Amino acid sequence: MHEKIIILDFGSQTTQLIGRRVRELNTYCEIVPFNKFPLDDPTVKGVILSGSPYSVNDANSFKADLTAIRGKYPVLGICYGAQFLANTSGGKVESADSREYGRAHLTYINNDDKLLQGIDCGSQVWMSHGDTITVLPESFRIIASTDDVRAAAYQIEGENTWGVQFHPEVFHSTDGTLILDNFLHICGCSKDWTPASFIESTVAELKEQLGDDKVILALSGGVDSSVTAVLLNRAIGKNLTCIFVDHGLLRKNEFENVLKDYEHLGLNVIGVDAKKKFYSELAGITDPETKRKIIGKGFIDVFDEEAHKLKDIKWLGQGTIYPDVIESLSITGTVIKSHHNVGGLPEKMNLKLVEPLRLLFKDEVRRVGNELGMMPHLIKRHPFPGPGLGIRILGDITPEKVRVLQEADDIYMSLMREWGLYDKIWQAGAILLPIRSVGVMGDERTYENTIALRAVTSTDAMTADWAQLPYDFLAKVSNEIINKVKGVNRVVYDISSKPPATIEWE
Ligand code: XMP
Repeated sequence: MHEKIIILDFGSQTTQLIGRRVRELNTYCEIVPFNKFPLDDPTVKGVILSGSPYSVNDANSFKADLTAIRGKYPVLGICYGAQFLANTSGGKVESADSREYGRAHLTYINNDDKLLQGIDCGSQVWMSHGDTITVLPESFRIIASTDDVRAAAYQIEGENTWGVQFHPEVFHSTDGTLILDNFLHICGCSKDWTPASFIESTVAELKEQLGDDKVILALSGGVDSSVTAVLLNRAIGKNLTCIFVDHGLLRKNEFENVLKDYEHLGLNVIGVDAKKKFYSELAGITDPETKRKIIGKGFIDVFDEEAHKLKDIKWLGQGTIYPDVIESLSITGTVIKSHHNVGGLPEKMNLKLVEPLRLLFKDEVRRVGNELGMMPHLIKRHPFPGPGLGIRILGDITPEKVRVLQEADDIYMSLMREWGLYDKIWQAGAILLPIRSVGVMGDERTYENTIALRAVTSTDAMTADWAQLPYDFLAKVSNEIINKVKGVNRVVYDISSKPPATIEWE
């Protein structure tokens, strides 16, 4: 078992970011709700308290019992975390008169302090809270200040406990990573958590957990399920059977290409062509959530049918990754769209779940895939939603609309690769709009469909910016689509960010 840092989540938007930074420093960490500290875990080396949308003075703010933590482990409180420590030790936190939001600079630093080793006066930090600590408890020693915030950082005397009012995890705190690294050093972390060590320990654990049991796994062509399959294959070989369903809503030629890749990787995979079933069940359906439900249920039916042809299956493999896990544990989460493609599967099939990537972030999954020797095009693949083109054809779905969208999308994605843009983008795709407009081609009047192009940059799909693709590129894509795809006479580019828009249109 790897040593770990525990991050107690008080609901801040940057909690995940703390986790990512710690992992980037080759140290394993887990994010748990503020009141779920794992008391009996011998692998815990230190604890970080996150920020929060609340003020410590709010009646409904999150309050953790730290008696079993303080003094036993090194602790670092960030923003709310720092205020919470001060407030519960007899200090005072108040709404600040002069609020310091955004960039600030450390104008005083105690360089003898272990947390601030190597950080110079003037270092830029990022502040983001309306409150400030106005009275520090007696044993708290100020170790850094800014012009407006005296207690920008403190240490508690006689205790390995620190608090920082700013956010070391965000990019704009220029020495933030160094501060986190210093903290890991204080915790005595060996910083040897790498993709290779993850693979070695996960394969060993999977062997132990699964023994000679048989496992079934739904492949989607995406990075997460593919890496899950290769890891499981390494652990249990032919006891893993993968199923790849063609619901008729994949990208052009994707089914054939991805199947070939999987076979090349030595996976035991069954490809199922279920296009007809899906097209007939979706005929005439326009409501987005109903479409998602039909596709999700159809998928479970097909998967279930295939699974029943196999004997003695005990486990269901899934490519769940950490953001999904955090979201389901979340203390503040709201569901905007039903993203879980196969939610009801394990109960229906009476199988146990095995999810070897459940504690990894997306970029870590990619690094593991790389270390496993998987093809770059499979690892760098953009995310693609389970319901596929089904939620990119607005309104009802017909095989003809699927064809039109597949052609347009294929032109867009091929050009994106050709122009070297594919790897710079988080996710891109074409959307077929239920709108026709007038155009002119040669001497003819046309009255045809509109294609919207979408491309976003993001790190986790929770927030996303529309990508500023070059005009030349957009012009080329538009020309090619209108000239080559019968049924399309207009192309538009989506310039909405998330929030308030979402990445997919449905
Ligand atoms: P939204 O549209 O909510 O999408 O901004 C965020 C990310 O999730 C993907 N997405 C899905 N993935 N099943 C999936 O497997 C779904 O039903 C689904 N809906 C959206 C979307 O492509 C983006 O990466």
